[in-house]
Amino acid sequence: MKKEKEHLMLQEILEQERVIRDIVKKYVDFNSGITYFEEFKHKLRELRKVDRVTFLGCGTSYHAAIYGNYIFEEFVDLPCEVEFADEFLRRKTVIETETMFIFFSQSGETTDIISAAKKAKESKCLIVGITNNINSTLAHLADVAINTLAGKEDALAATKTFSSQLIILALLAVYIGGLNRKPPTISKRAIEEIKVLPEKIKNIFSLQENIKKIAEKYKYIEQLAVLGEKYHFPIALEGGLKIKETSYTHAEGFSAHEFLHGPKALIEKNFPVIFFAPNDSVYQENKKIIKDLQEKEASLILIATKGNKDFKFKDILYIPESLEIFNPILSVIILQFFAYFLALEKRMDMDKPRNLSKFI
Ligand code: M6R
Repeated sequence: MKKEKEHLMLQEILEQERVIRDIVKKYVDFNSGITYFEEFKHKLRELRKVDRVTFLGCGTSYHAAIYGNYIFEEFVDLPCEVEFADEFLRRKTVIETETMFIFFSQSGETTDIISAAKKAKESKCLIVGITNNINSTLAHLADVAINTLAGKEDALAATKTFSSQLIILALLAVYIGGLNRKPPTISKRAIEEIKVLPEKIKNIFSLQENIKKIAEKYKYIEQLAVLGEKYHFPIALEGGLKIKETSYTHAEGFSAHEFLHGPKALIEKNFPVIFFAPNDSVYQENKKIIKDLQEKEASLILIATKGNKDFKFKDILYIPESLEIFNPILSVIILQFFAYFLALEKRMDMDKPRNLSKFI
C-alpha cells in the first residue's frame, strides 16, 4: 500500500470515511429506502427459519460481535448470544439447528475462528462469515460470506476493519429485521442517518489536534480505565485493547455499571478514566457515575454529544448527534486516535507492536 501518512495506523484511521461510503453504496438503496444483501440470495429459506443467532470473534472482532448481539436483539428481535471463538471451541456446546452463526474475522484466517466455524458447521446451522478477505478460509467455509470492503489493513491494530464490521452489522440487522419482523419505521430512520454518517466521521477527524494534546498530557500514565455502557460496552473494551497494543499502557475496558462492582476500588485522585457518555438511552445513568468519579477526583476524559452542557471540565471530546446505534462508529474513532497519539508520544512503533502478529 502506498504510504501517504507517516504511520499506517493513522492512514487507516483516516480511510474510515471512504470505507463507510463504499459499504453504504453497496448495501443501501436510498431511493427505495432499503438495505439489501445479495449474499443471502441462495440462503433466504434458511435465513427465514433462523430462530437464534450466535456471534463469535477474537480480539477486536469479538468486540464487533458484542455490538452484533446488541443490535440484532434490538432490530431483529431474535435471541442472541456472543462468544469468544476459543471458548466456544474448547467447551462442550449444545447447538440448536435453527441457530445462525455469525463469525467475524478481519483476516478470515484466525485459527480459532476457522476451527470454531468448522465445529458449528457440523451441526448443519447457517454459517455467515464477515471478513475483510473474501478469498480467505473463513469466506470459503461460510454458507454466506460478506466482505467488509475496508481494503487491506497493514497496521497491526485493527481500525478501519472494526468500523466496517460495525456498519455491516447495522445494515445487516436492518435487512434481516425487515425480512420478517420489525416495522419499517426504525429502519427508515437508520437509513436516513446512514446518509450523513460519513460527514460526521469527517467531523471526528477535525478533533485530532485536541486528542493529541490530551495524549501528550497522559503520556506518563501507567494505567487507565475505559468505561461505556450498552452499545459503548464493546467500544470500551476495544478502547482498552487498542491502547494496550499500541502504547503498552495498561488500559482496561469495562461496562460502566460493572465497574462499580470492584474495579472502582482503583479510583483515587488523578486516576485516569475515559468515559463514553453520548446522548443515548443510558446517558442519565452514566451521568451519575461520572459525577461520582468527579467527586473522587478521578482524571476524566469524556466523550459526549455536541451540545452537552452537564459537564464543564477540560478534556471533553464531542461527537455529533446521531442515532444511538451509530454513536459507537463515531466515538471509537476518537479512541483510535487517542491510542495512536499516545503511542506516538511514547515513541512506540504502533504499526508493529512487539509480540503480536496480524493473525494467529
Ligand atoms: O483477523 P481477526 O479479526 O480474526 O483477528 C482477531 C484478533 O487477533 C485481532 O482483532 C487483534 O485483536 C488485533 N490486534 C486488534 O487490533
